[in-house]
This record gives sequence, structure tokens and C-alpha cells, in this order.
Amino acid sequence: MIQDQIAEMERRALAELQATSDLVALDEWRIKYLGKKGELTGFLRGMGGLSPVERPLVGQAVNTAKNILETAVAERTERLKSAALEVTLTRDKVDVTLPGRPVQVGHVHVITKVFREIIEAFTAMGFQVAEGPEVELDYYNFQQLNIPPGHPARSMHDTFYFSESVLLRTHTSPNQIRVMEKQKPPVRIIVPGKCYRSEATDATHEFMFMQFEGLAVDRDITLADLRGTLAAFARRMFGEERKVRFRCDYFPYVEPGVDLSIDCLICQGVGCRACKYSGWLEILGAGMVHPQVLRNVDIDPQKYSGFAFGMGPERIAMLKYSIDDIRQFYRNDLRFLRQFA
Ligand code: PHE
Repeated sequence: MIQDQIAEMERRALAELQATSDLVALDEWRIKYLGKKGELTGFLRGMGGLSPVERPLVGQAVNTAKNILETAVAERTERLKSAALEVTLTRDKVDVTLPGRPVQVGHVHVITKVFREIIEAFTAMGFQVAEGPEVELDYYNFQQLNIPPGHPARSMHDTFYFSESVLLRTHTSPNQIRVMEKQKPPVRIIVPGKCYRSEATDATHEFMFMQFEGLAVDRDITLADLRGTLAAFARRMFGEERKVRFRCDYFPYVEPGVDLSIDCLICQGVGCRACKYSGWLEILGAGMVHPQVLRNVDIDPQKYSGFAFGMGPERIAMLKYSIDDIRQFYRNDLRFLRQFA
């Protein structure tokens, strides 16, 4: 009987279906039993040779089997799909409670830190910030600052020259001239920037370093203004209790010239290695702008006077943080730099 054959096929199909383990095998199963040329359709094709009595019975048996197999395959598909999903979910599991990887956050360089403090100290006193070129003319770096060719002061700076007239600035002082060429008094500026000297480097000398130039020109500016401004700066930077000392010094573009020292931060003035047992630490050079420098930029020294100063933020940072070697600043050793985070 065909009905028996159909029943046998159904049993076989269901057993095979239970054995399928993935969606590819399921597809093959579907083609084999339910496909256009599948076993089930095979029975329908054979129906031409049946008697009119048998035909509807066989047709019904085929339809019943078809329904059973379709329901079974739908169920099996669901089962395998959710099993596959389960596998991916377990494999790709993310534990959202795990702590994240720490992000490395940088911080400003210790010189930048000191740099900003110096700028704040002077802008609070009414100074403005200006800038000038690092590749400079001999004219601005020396000549206009009262340092003519052959002047012994030129040997004080071991200069990197590009040519006879072009060089890397050895100090920020050329900006005194550059500013006063453009701006007539009142002038109150500070000029930060890199400077270069052809130094054999050691613990206190670098061939590249920073400077801050300061310049104030107006009517009736006196040495007392210079003293007050720089003492206020030194105390803001190093503590209100600091003692300050001004002594004569020589720079061709100031008259009189001075240097400013503070009492030693480390030994409080008693004497130690840092202050070379003098009790004092020199922090900057300064003076009253030389009348010839004013004349060079067409400012009448009878009417106007001014003071100028120059300081190295590396030295300031060394004193502030007890750093004993200037070369540390630009060596980029993270163990050094991280101390100033
Ligand atoms: N330019 C001087 C130096 O490099 C410092 C200085 C600036 C001195 C201004 C006096 C006035 O040491």
C-alpha cells in the first residue's frame, strides 16, 4: 500500500530530522523530502496511475505527511537557530562590570608651568605679552643694543651664526628694540622665547634655553620702579618672606645695570651648596634702559626713561623645585617630567 510507504517515509524523515545539527543539514533535509523533486512530491507524481477511489486517500495521506513534516522542520529550525544564538552569545560575552583600561593623561611641561606663572605675575602688573623671531639679525641682537662689532660684550655670548648678519638670538633683548620701533611710550611688555648659545653644556648651561624679557618705558620711570616691580615678582614667585638683593652688574644696553638675588630658598640664607655658601641666589639681570638705546629707536631720553630685565625660566624652575641639572628639562625622561604633573 502506498499509504504504508508514505508512513515509512515519514518515520524516516522525522528520524533524520532529529539528527540534523545545523542549518545547512536542515536545508539538505528540506530538499530531500519537501523539495520540488523530493520524496513527497514523488508520491503525488505517481498518483496518475491510481484508481479514482485510491486517489483522494493517497492525496490526503500525502497532505497529512506534508503538514507533519513542515511543522517538524519549522520547530527544528527554531531549535537550531536559538542554539546557534546561544553559542554566539556565550562566546562574545562582554562583562560590562569589568574596569576599563586606564587612559594615559598628559600634563604640561614643568617649564610651561613656570612660564605661565611668570606671565601671570607680570600681566597682573599691567604688562602685555609680545613675541619676536628666534632667527635674528645681528642688528637687533647686538648693534641696536649698544653692542657694536668688536665690542667685548659680544664674546660674552658664544653665538650660533648663519652668516655675518643673521644668527640665532642669544637673548630676548632684541625685542626691546623691535617693540620700541613700533610702539612709543608708554610701553610695558614681557617677551618670552627660546634663545641659543653655543655652549658646552653642563649642569647649569644649555645651548637652547628660554628667557623672559621685560621692558617698561614711560615718563619718570626710575630705578625704584624697577626695584619694586622685580621685588614683587620675586616674592610672588618664591614666597612673601623672600629677601631681595640688588647689586651692580654690567650690560651694555642698560645704565645702571643690576642683578637681582633672593635669599637662598634651601638654606634660608645660611649658606649651602646651592647658593655656593653665599646665602644668595641670582635670578635675573636688569637695569635702566641706556639713553643710547632709546635714541636708537627715536625716543627722547630727556623725556622718557625705562627699565628692562631678562630672566631664565629654567633657572627659576630649578630654584623653585630644587632641580640640580638644567639638562633634565629637555631630555624628555618621563620619570623626571611626571614629578610635575
Ligand atoms: N639679556 C641679558 C642676558 O641675557 C639679561 C638682561 C636683560 C639684562 C635686560 C639687562 C636688561 O643675560
